[in-house]
Amino acid sequence: MTTVADIPSLYTTTGPVPPEFDLPDQVLINTWLLDGRLEPWTGEMQTVTSPIHVDTGSGPAPRVIGACPMLDEAAALAAVDAASRAWDHGRGLWPTMRVDERIRCVEEFAHRMADKRDEIVRLMMWEICKTLPDARAEFDRTVEYIHDTVDALKDLDRASSRFVIEKGIYAQIRRAPLGPVLCMGPFNYPLNETFTTLIPALIMGNPVIVKPPRMGKLLYGPLAQAFLEAFPPGVVNVAYGDRRILGPIMKSGKIGVLAFIGSSKAADALRLQHPHPHRLRCILGLDAKNAAIVMESADMNLTVQELLAGSLSFNGQRCTAIKIVFVHQSRAKELVERLGAAMAALPLGMPWDEGAKITPLPEPGKTAYLTGIIADAVALGASVTNPDGGDTVMSLFRPALIHPVAEAARLFHEEQFGPVVPVVPFSDMEEPIQAIINSGYGQQMSIFGSDPEKVAELVDPMVNQVCRVNLNSQCQRGPDTFPFTGRKDSAEGTLSVTDALRCFSIRTLVAAKGTPGNKALLSDILRERRSSFLSTDFLL
Ligand code: G3H
Repeated sequence: MTTVADIPSLYTTTGPVPPEFDLPDQVLINTWLLDGRLEPWTGEMQTVTSPIHVDTGSGPAPRVIGACPMLDEAAALAAVDAASRAWDHGRGLWPTMRVDERIRCVEEFAHRMADKRDEIVRLMMWEICKTLPDARAEFDRTVEYIHDTVDALKDLDRASSRFVIEKGIYAQIRRAPLGPVLCMGPFNYPLNETFTTLIPALIMGNPVIVKPPRMGKLLYGPLAQAFLEAFPPGVVNVAYGDRRILGPIMKSGKIGVLAFIGSSKAADALRLQHPHPHRLRCILGLDAKNAAIVMESADMNLTVQELLAGSLSFNGQRCTAIKIVFVHQSRAKELVERLGAAMAALPLGMPWDEGAKITPLPEPGKTAYLTGIIADAVALGASVTNPDGGDTVMSLFRPALIHPVAEAARLFHEEQFGPVVPVVPFSDMEEPIQAIINSGYGQQMSIFGSDPEKVAELVDPMVNQVCRVNLNSQCQRGPDTFPFTGRKDSAEGTLSVTDALRCFSIRTLVAAKGTPGNKALLSDILRERRSSFLSTDFLL
């Protein structure tokens, strides 16, 4: 096994952190955003540690980087009350505000958030070990998502600013908000994935309770001030804590939409706590184990390059990562050799190290879990084929290529969410097809091949198993204007810039028979701008 001494540059125990990326002090968050104020918190606190180990004098240990509130039930219910008051049965300031005014608040927020880029990127590097380029990309992609959402809403509003006349009935059809939203993103995209539900939820007029992820929460400290300054009271509430606060929030029955990115098991448990589950709309991004099928006709250069990025970007900690590779047996040896060599060349390091691709894993117990599923696959006939694959130094795990993985192995079925790539050879295409059919997941898959007839033959059964089939490319969510969803245990609802606006709203219309009296009534309301809903004003 590799030891710290063998790779001395990996840990800050042996090297200083560049000052621009260091955290000079611990980050102490001792307030939480409630009802338009930063409410002091004097109760239980959560110590936040980094996956990065530092020399503590008595040996390396995870660096303590801060602390933040661990709210209790009473605080959680206070957040529900604040969001409910802002909603006020749909009569609150926010849900009735004109679209252009809501857009102004969101733009104001985006402007204030942009000032926090360096701070947020630094916190992401320390708390979840996302590399500097990836953390910056996550931030920039999120800001772009906000601007794209504003543009999409303007389009939607323009389309609904005219009356529809059908069978003598005049109607104005718009999308209206649904009520308080509980918004929870995952640790691997603590900013972006939370914001791809938070921003559309807000801009459509719903007040929100954000529960930051269990890791990647410190960045909500700088964001809280920006939320406070940009939105009216109660519209954004930030509830730090663990699952103990979620039960009371759901049981209150006051949540209209659950926007959750995480495991299907947790999503089911949350949904069932709502006293009227049919009143709860769920927008869920859940488990996935995207497969790649490498055909006989695959271009191996391109395949290796895409598999490397697809399975190991951010250490394989992406819901869209390729988590199992099926390869035609005639190409298996070549694939295993070349992918293994490419994996061995991936630089390990700290998030700020130039070129670092593999960084420490933030989930407690993760390296032990990965070691366990590798041992299980090995006991069932597989080997670790790349040199030093699976070696562990504290929270750092050298990527491992495992081949041939048996169907009985855990790695064949479990979502490893880490730097382990299982490879399964096949002789008949029906084998990977059956594996995908029998899998509980249904997000995406990739096909690598250049024979049009064979590729097309595989596309047709696959589009009814997953929701995106990638040809000669890794699986991915982006561009964010594309629909992102899944079947089976992988998702509920569809997210994209435009789809998300629909998810967080419901169509409502005002209709009237076209009698002279009704026409005069409608004309007066429109001319005198008496209503926000009934309006033909055009957003530019
Ligand atoms: O973890 C799931 C993310 O939505 C994946 O997004 O494919 O752009 O990395 P990505």
